[in-house]
Amino acid sequence: MPISRYMAEALGHPQWGYYISRDPLGRSGDFITAPEISQMFGEMIGLWCADRWQAMGAPDPFMLAELGPGRGTLMADALRAGAALPGFNQAAQVHLVETSPVLRASQRAALPGLNVTWHDNIADLPALPGLTIANEFFDALPIRQFQRGEDGWHERMVGLNGDDLALVLDPAIVPTAPMAHDAAVGDVVEVSSARTAAMTELARHMSQHGGAALIIDYGHRQSAVGDTLQAMRGHQFVDVLDEPGDADLTSHVDFQALAEAATGAGAQTFGPVGQGTFLGQLGIGARAQKLQHAATQEQTAAIASALHRLTHQDQMGQLFKVMAVKTATTPGSQIPPGFLESE
Ligand SMILES: C[S@@+](CC[C@H](N)C(=O)[O-])C[C@H]1O[C@@H](n2cnc3c(N)ncnc32)[C@H](O)[C@@H]1O
Repeated sequence: MPISRYMAEALGHPQWGYYISRDPLGRSGDFITAPEISQMFGEMIGLWCADRWQAMGAPDPFMLAELGPGRGTLMADALRAGAALPGFNQAAQVHLVETSPVLRASQRAALPGLNVTWHDNIADLPALPGLTIANEFFDALPIRQFQRGEDGWHERMVGLNGDDLALVLDPAIVPTAPMAHDAAVGDVVEVSSARTAAMTELARHMSQHGGAALIIDYGHRQSAVGDTLQAMRGHQFVDVLDEPGDADLTSHVDFQALAEAATGAGAQTFGPVGQGTFLGQLGIGARAQKLQHAATQEQTAAIASALHRLTHQDQMGQLFKVMAVKTATTPGSQIPPGFLESE
């Protein structure tokens, strides 16, 4: 089967899928995400949304949406920070796109008393001007891989070697390969129609109803050759074919491909910039100091460590990137906060 089908089944199978059957986040799980590292992450994003809402003319009601919201931590922190701007939280209708029943329950618990609507698909989001957040959502959507051979491009498939799963090359040559012309024999390229479709749907929503989105993920600015499919279990990288459905399966996000999908659907993009640059411009340093002011010695050290992890070049500051998407017709200053410094 193509890797895209393997990924879709391993992550989303209705009974055995990785995300369907568990909460994989946090120290006791398989991986930790930025909102689970520190409240500061969601707070900065909440302030970004509040600023954009004001720039859009403070529409009431508006859609505050999140794609793949995990435990709901980011949304809870964003709303707490957004309360600083009068009217923002009152105007917000929270819409979450989430396929995992286990994580939907966590999100419900993280957002008590809030009127939340869940959706399976971006296409189901309401006809309202919107602000949409996606942190580590696109990396989980399936990819296909193609490898250059002496005779042309072949698709990498999941097959069998005896009783074991193995990555094999489809003998058929892919005739219209949408791939790097300068690739060498052995090079792998990754293509994701699921990511393109999701971005196109989101940009279409923005074109119709107005709004902006923030896409945050690990990945590369320019489309490039390279095998980035990875599996993670218990905070360790494991073989991608090891125990399907029991490990997280992702690949790096091709931000150029996402930007092309967005612009193709009538939106404009900003960045991507490194997560460290983005959070720095939004004032995460000042927020850390403010929190440290009222903290114990132990808490002060934990805040410093979280700040380092979220922003430092050798940690999540550079590998993780942030891209903003908006429609040209959405009011507001040309360049959104966090994207003023070019890199
Ligand atoms: C890596 S987690 C990120 C969670 C959260 N954004 C965070 O930063 O902690 C991926 C999230 O996307 C959800 N997800 C994965 N595939 C999905 C799909 N096809 N449609 C909707 N949600 C999906 C998962 O259930 C999970 O909530």
